[in-house]
Amino acid sequence: MRLTNHPILGEAEARREVTFTFDGRAMTGFEGEPVAAALKAAGVVVHRYTKKNRSPRGVFCAIGRCTDCVMTVNGRPNVRTCVTPLEDGMAVATQYGAGEEAK
Ligand code: FES
Repeated sequence: MRLTNHPILGEAEARREVTFTFDGRAMTGFEGEPVAAALKAAGVVVHRYTKKNRSPRGVFCAIGRCTDCVMTVNGRPNVRTCVTPLEDGMAVATQYGAGEEAK
């Protein structure tokens, strides 16, 4: 689920593929792309569940302003995945409520 040949921007440049985990499942993405983009390409759209109603949330603004995309990354909760570059070996997990550290 990626654009490889955009009608205006042209063909995508070659990028280094890296591996990461999402809730313990191995996945691949491109180094430096937003974590949220790698998840979207893999079909993952729910990033967290709200504390009060346990409502699912995912990418909304995609520019680091709304916090709907926050997840637990490498054990750290509340990471805005739409503006966090993907790195090799990252451990990304669905966040429930405010995350482990904020309880
Ligand atoms: S989608 Fe709004 S901060 Fe990431």
